[in-house]
Amino acid sequence: MKSSSSVKDCPPPLKPEFAFIGRSNVGKSSLINMLANHKKLAKTSSKPGKTQLINHFLINEQWFLVDLPGYGWAKASKVDKEIWGAMTHDYLMLRENLINIFILIDSRLPPQPIDIEFINWLGSKQLALALVFTKCDKQSKNKTMASVAKFEKVLYQTWEELPPVFITSAINQNGKTELIHYIHNICLASDSS
Ligand code: GTP
Ligand code: MG
Repeated sequence: MKSSSSVKDCPPPLKPEFAFIGRSNVGKSSLINMLANHKKLAKTSSKPGKTQLINHFLINEQWFLVDLPGYGWAKASKVDKEIWGAMTHDYLMLRENLINIFILIDSRLPPQPIDIEFINWLGSKQLALALVFTKCDKQSKNKTMASVAKFEKVLYQTWEELPPVFITSAINQNGKTELIHYIHNICLASDSS
């Protein structure tokens, strides 16, 4: 629908909004394409740093899906990182219709401090979160489950109750039905409130 460089340029906040965020290259844009049943809606790339703006997609005239630039991209310049930080921070803090943030985590990696810090920060701001472990097609189910368990163990150091967890693959569509149900249930609840 629109790409915006600041929260004040975003579309009018008239629908419930779900944002997707995570480290560069974790698979945000690919997951969004899977959810939207569209191969090329959000631009994907094997090079990190593809998504640079706040990208709004209106799904079924019902809810906004938002693709955000990734964090933790080593090659980004200091200025780029500051711009990312300011733009994303303002968006997360000020966007009034934002009702859930999906944090994407690479299911193959051990817990990354940058992900843990970011999740803890969002938690401290009382923003509603869900964790999405991506690229599960790249390894066995057992390895993915072990990786999720390790991540949860780290989070239990600071969280009493963990956010919902989803395990996904944009290649074989794992987790798609579960995510869509979750989003629809939140939309229904927000309609009736
Ligand atoms: P930025 O916009 O740079 O922050 O990246 P992004 O998080 O949007 O990642 P993107 O969706 O562009 O995917 C990065 C790379 O990972 C691409 O080469 C994708 O094809 C690949 N990829 C994404 N999701 C999956 C997945 O579920 N399985 C596999 N095997 N590859 C994936
Ligand atoms: Mg992207």
